[in-house]
Amino acid sequence: MNLLLAYASLSGNTREVARLLAACCALRGHAVRCLDVDSDQVADALAQPRAMLLLGCWTDNAGRTPTEMKRFVASLRDGPGLPRGDTVAVFGTGETQWGLEFYCGAAHRLARFFGSPHPVLEIEQMPHGHDDTHTIHRWADVVLAPFETPSDADPARRHP
Ligand SMILES: Cc1cc2nc3c(=O)[nH]c(=O)nc-3n(C[C@H](O)[C@H](O)[C@H](O)COP(=O)(O)O)c2cc1C
Repeated sequence: MNLLLAYASLSGNTREVARLLAACCALRGHAVRCLDVDSDQVADALAQPRAMLLLGCWTDNAGRTPTEMKRFVASLRDGPGLPRGDTVAVFGTGETQWGLEFYCGAAHRLARFFGSPHPVLEIEQMPHGHDDTHTIHRWADVVLAPFETPSDADPARRHP
């Protein structure tokens, strides 16, 4: 299926999660478009049909959603319209040192805003090592599997 993987990243952590996730989606047989929400590609990306939106975001001060992501959500609302909640899955990076109540706060705010029923993927700072890669692949399993048809849900493509 066609997936839009849209992310906001200030210093590269969320971009790296997006990159790993995009590779995982491609491995599962999906056509995935990766979009930096702070680029000039937003209008073009939003004009394309998509079955699911994977939304990634870093967290700003005290659990807030960064401006560039708020702008993207406004473009979505004012353009094609807000997608159905179950077709949106949210991931984020953050740092626990900002307080556990604010950890990955933007990702959780976005999931609430869209009414996404999927678990929010949280990665602390830059993903590294097998554990983070495994966590990302398992999350993709959980959020994508309900939408996959037998032809693109080939178990042989899955990460162990
Ligand atoms: C000004 C500022 C405020 C931040 N506030 C939070 C916060 O409230 N909660 C959190 O989890 N992370 C917070 N962070 C940490 C970033 O969200 C984290 O480093 C993230 O991985 C950055 O992602 P990026 O490299 O994709 O920009 C803050 C970072 C900055 C620079």
